[in-house]
Amino acid sequence: MNPQLYPLEINSTTGEPFLRLRNHKNIVITPPRPDDAPAIVSILNDFSVSDCLSGPPFPYTFDDAKSFLDKILEASTGVLKELEYAKDEQELITVGRCPVQSLRELKEDGSDAFIGDISLVRCMHGELMGPAGPDGVDWDKKMSREESNNQMSNGDPQIIWSIGDYLAPSHHRQGIMSDAVDTVLHEWAIPRMKVRHMWVSAFTGNEGSVKVFLKNGFKLIKTHEDFFEVKGKRRGLHVMEWRYNAQ
Ligand SMILES: CC(C)(COP(=O)(O)OP(=O)(O)OC[C@H]1O[C@@H](n2cnc3c(N)ncnc32)[C@H](O)[C@@H]1OP(=O)(O)O)[C@@H](O)C(=O)NCCC(=O)NCCS
Repeated sequence: MNPQLYPLEINSTTGEPFLRLRNHKNIVITPPRPDDAPAIVSILNDFSVSDCLSGPPFPYTFDDAKSFLDKILEASTGVLKELEYAKDEQELITVGRCPVQSLRELKEDGSDAFIGDISLVRCMHGELMGPAGPDGVDWDKKMSREESNNQMSNGDPQIIWSIGDYLAPSHHRQGIMSDAVDTVLHEWAIPRMKVRHMWVSAFTGNEGSVKVFLKNGFKLIKTHEDFFEVKGKRRGLHVMEWRYNAQ
């Protein structure tokens, strides 16, 4: 096995790399698969999930899932190729993405089921990235600040990272996403991406999401009670911060 994949494991039957959750051993995180589309469509058309997310449209179509999958598959494949090219290097290289993001529950018969997604991305709240941090909101500078954050080289400790996640309602409140954040942060983000600073956000009222992050060492640094309009509805926003040095 290519040592650069560490700490990913390889499924001996399919050859697919995966990270196993630290506590829920029956749940793994793998690269996306093209045939995930129907499961994604079903979860993202559940209003209780969609209502907590700003990105995915509602209703969510098969074409939405296909184009999203094309994008994340390309990104995951790109990182895996980078790790392959570096296989003879002595030191583990630093990469700009986590190649696994699809949460799957392993079944006794050896099959698995897609149950959600956890993605590590550069922060998409440029409107909060001014000198006052999340206390100040400047929508005019949103794009330029996100561009600056996106242009920093992999491993730069100044990059502000973020996490986006969702889980099938059938699997809520079993500690799975808390475990997934812990696993991705400590097994991949910190050692393999040199992630040192993160902001995550949740709509006000999304107690579950806030708790997931607080349990993982994030601090609530700002709440905007009336922040923006998402899918026709005014939403408030909690912003939580994590810093490597504060651990
Ligand atoms: C938010 C979400 C990812 C949480 O995942 P999860 O696996 O259910 O969360 P966990 O089981 O790890 O729960 C963590 C804590 O939050 C609590 N919690 C979870 N859902 C909750 C809810 N709806 N209301 C209140 N508390 C909740 C849990 O009881 C647990 O607290 P405890 O450790 O004190 O017992 C999941 O509810 C989800 O997918 N929601 C829809 C999409 C979404 O909100 N994504 C995040 C956008 S910011």
